[in-house]
Amino acid sequence: MSGEVPRLDRGELEALQLERLRESLQRAVRVPHYAAAFREAGLDPGDVTSLADLARFPFTTKADLRDNYPYGMFAVPREEVARVHASSGTTGKPTVVGYTREDLDTWAEVMARSIRVAGGRPGDVVHVAYGYGLFTGGLGAHYGAERLGCTVVPVSGGMTERQVQLIVDFRPRVIMVTPSYFLAILDEMEAQGVDPRDTGLEIGIFGAEPWTDEMRRAVEDRSGIRAVDIYGLSEVMGPGVSQEAGETQDGLHIWEDHFLPEIVDPVTLEPLPDGEEGELVFTSLSKQAMPVVRYRTRDLTTLLPGTAYPAFRRMAKVTGRTDDLMIVRGVNVYPSQVEEQILTIEGLSPHYLCVLTRPGNLDELTVRVESADHLTAEAGDALGARLADRVKNRIGVSARVEVVPPGALERSLGKAKRISDQR
Ligand code: DLL
Repeated sequence: MSGEVPRLDRGELEALQLERLRESLQRAVRVPHYAAAFREAGLDPGDVTSLADLARFPFTTKADLRDNYPYGMFAVPREEVARVHASSGTTGKPTVVGYTREDLDTWAEVMARSIRVAGGRPGDVVHVAYGYGLFTGGLGAHYGAERLGCTVVPVSGGMTERQVQLIVDFRPRVIMVTPSYFLAILDEMEAQGVDPRDTGLEIGIFGAEPWTDEMRRAVEDRSGIRAVDIYGLSEVMGPGVSQEAGETQDGLHIWEDHFLPEIVDPVTLEPLPDGEEGELVFTSLSKQAMPVVRYRTRDLTTLLPGTAYPAFRRMAKVTGRTDDLMIVRGVNVYPSQVEEQILTIEGLSPHYLCVLTRPGNLDELTVRVESADHLTAEAGDALGARLADRVKNRIGVSARVEVVPPGALERSLGKAKRISDQR
């Protein structure tokens, strides 16, 4: 059946990984970039005899992909590429990724597996509100849900009123959407007088941006659904690289038969043991069109042993991206730490933005956060003072807090923007 988790023990999985790693490195040398990088490091893929040998290979970064825009990282003739996706970076050209038919098949399979592990079943109605297009979210979710045998409603992002209408009319059991946009959908339900508990929605498969366990509790309490995390990135495949199991909700099982994870120190780039937090690095094991070798994701997490699927290691929820690190007067702060504190205060909503400024040469962090209800100025100030106090005591940085009315902050249809750096 489609989407079943392979029944392997750890030893069998590692043997499969080694075999696939050797093949994947051989495919990678067809790409001039990898051929040159391996040659420079004096490495021959044929010499790899253990998984540990991978640590001798050079890293790949987003800049390498950008330098080879658009098709330079492909290991097959362009004619064999059945689809491309692209992600826009903060600067310049987007990075382009390609898939052969076989790659699209693998992707649909790991996505079907992810939806099943989240609790989805063949026959479920699945509402897809990830964006369709060059972003991998919509089409990735779409083909995975079809592969599993679900009835797919391909809504894409936007037109929030209509999203609610479609949920009410089509009664999906599963919704796939960014957590921040799901909050916007819940707000719209409230505005229309729709109780989310009456819609039939049971499972939310949320990813594409960091979100905390506090956010999970807030969303579950408000909607009655079970919220699970899905992770992925275009350079490695798209959504479906790892998935949290619905029954345990304890971090994301990495589909290690296709994606080999490592954690490295983001500064020294030395490999770190499981259990220590660092930057997540992936090597693709089965991709044909665009193999990646030790791709630096910039995402911070920890590798943990498998639970629901014991052979497959888990990754903890991503705490942030190295790019999202805000250094405020020397103190390192990630938006997710601020989010955790916001969600401990009743009366504040999870809609927030961290604004960085530098008036008179000193960093200043302002947290703009919506209140759950309309408040008097005094009541808003009181909540703001409580949050500022928590941020100071728990994170160790002084922040100005502006509590703004419900709906005052811009909603994102795709990935939420959590930082506005105006320095
Ligand atoms: O965001 C793929 C995706 C679509 C994943 C839908 C899940 C659901 P990119 O646009 O290439 O691909 O962005 C990848 O998004 O490196 C992380 O920084 C972030 N990200 C993705 N999923 C999560 C998650 C898609 N569950 C980048 N938690 C990654 C935290 C996430 N961050």
